[in-house]
Amino acid sequence: MKPFEEQYQVYLQAFEAALRKLCEEMQYEPALLTESMRYSLLAGGKRIRPVLFFAALDALKVPYASETDCALALECIHTYSLIHDDLPAMDNDDFRRGRPSNHKKFGEGNAILAGDALLSLAFDLLLRSCERGEGHIRAARELSRAAGAEGMVAGQSADLFYEGKEAGERELAFVVERKTARLIAAPVVMAACLAGRDTEAARTFGNALGMLFQITDDLLDVKGDEKTVGKTLGKDSAEQKLTYIRVYGAEGAERLADFYADEAQRALAGFGGETGFLKELVNFVRGRKK
Ligand code: IPE
Ligand code: IPE
Ligand code: MG
Ligand code: MG
Ligand code: MG
Repeated sequence: MKPFEEQYQVYLQAFEAALRKLCEEMQYEPALLTESMRYSLLAGGKRIRPVLFFAALDALKVPYASETDCALALECIHTYSLIHDDLPAMDNDDFRRGRPSNHKKFGEGNAILAGDALLSLAFDLLLRSCERGEGHIRAARELSRAAGAEGMVAGQSADLFYEGKEAGERELAFVVERKTARLIAAPVVMAACLAGRDTEAARTFGNALGMLFQITDDLLDVKGDEKTVGKTLGKDSAEQKLTYIRVYGAEGAERLADFYADEAQRALAGFGGETGFLKELVNFVRGRKK
């Protein structure tokens, strides 16, 4: 196996090539709609969800290069969630991925619509993948649920609800499991579906990794480097968000991050296949600077 960083680049490049092709094929009218969709899709980002998807497929010996539609659907849904998350009515963030957020560039109405279009595009891609068989249908159902009112949207709704309110560990876990962990677990669970495997270990692993991912996001908001992170930092306390820092303090959040990192590593034991890269991915998320 290649060193972790190199292998990350291999998955990343496979994904970026597919994304560039998709963006070239997008020729919607009005042109402004296409431009605003491309703007956020091509703004960079870690692409951790598609990388995780390819890596999980690879671990389970499923050829990942032919599964780009599912990977693109994951990133389209994630990107839409970021565009809407940044809107003034939500987190009111002016920067994303190192540049002006979508609504700063195109206006709020267009940003809402770019998000809507990316969500619909994701389902078009998923439906195309469903022609490949039962495993793909199961995978598509997993992603639909992770994205919607049982998943990310529910978490975002609860995130807004708890803004400025007294709330604790239970409420925070409810929010984060939905707004973040479901869309991090989805690629791993989808890979298990495509491999015709049971999804339990994949879900446990993905959920722990997702919780860890949001803890490190909250930590970066208080101690990250703004240029590296590519977002305005210190926003969570300014908006009175329910975060790991608020509930556990920075040190408590670090400890909890270690807890979820351990849990993720343990769950990998039951995942099957060649899990070397996924193990290192957990450490990468634990120590990430962006
Ligand atoms: C940010 O996601 C939103 C969270 C769920 C914390 P990422 O940190 O994956 O954002 P990009 O895609 O790399 O920009
Ligand atoms: C991310 O939570 C949740 C999403 C579903 C987009 P945050 O609101 O903390 O994400 P950032 O910090 O803006 O990327
Ligand atoms: Mg938010
Ligand atoms: Mg936000
Ligand atoms: Mg954040």
